[in-house]
Amino acid sequence: MKPGIHITIIDREDRSHVLEAPTDLGLNLMELCRASELPVAGTCGGMALCASCHGYVLSDHDLGLPGEAEEDMLDQAFLVQSNSRLCCQLAIHDRMDGLIFKLAETGS
Ligand code: FES
Repeated sequence: MKPGIHITIIDREDRSHVLEAPTDLGLNLMELCRASELPVAGTCGGMALCASCHGYVLSDHDLGLPGEAEEDMLDQAFLVQSNSRLCCQLAIHDRMDGLIFKLAETGS
C-alpha cells in the first residue's frame, strides 16, 4: 500500500481531524469520513442524491469542477457557498494532500 496523504476535516463543532488517507483504494472523501467515524451520514451511498456529505473546501486545492449530478444536488441544498462540494464526489488522490474540508451543517 502506498503511503497516504493527509486531509484535515473540520467538524460541525469546529474541531479539526487530520486523517491519513490512502490514495490507492478508490475511496472518496465521504467514505473516508465515515471510516473515521466523523458525522457524515452518506445517506444516498455516494450517488449525489442527498447532500448529507455537503461541506466547504477551505484550502486552495484545485479539485476540478463539480459534475452535473453534483451541481444539481447543490442547487437543492441549503447553506451552499462558492466553495461547496459534496465530498462523496471527491475521489481521494495525491493532489488532495493538505486539503482542508469543513462539514456543512446537517440538513443542508
Ligand atoms: Fe449523498 Fe454525498 S452521500 S450526496
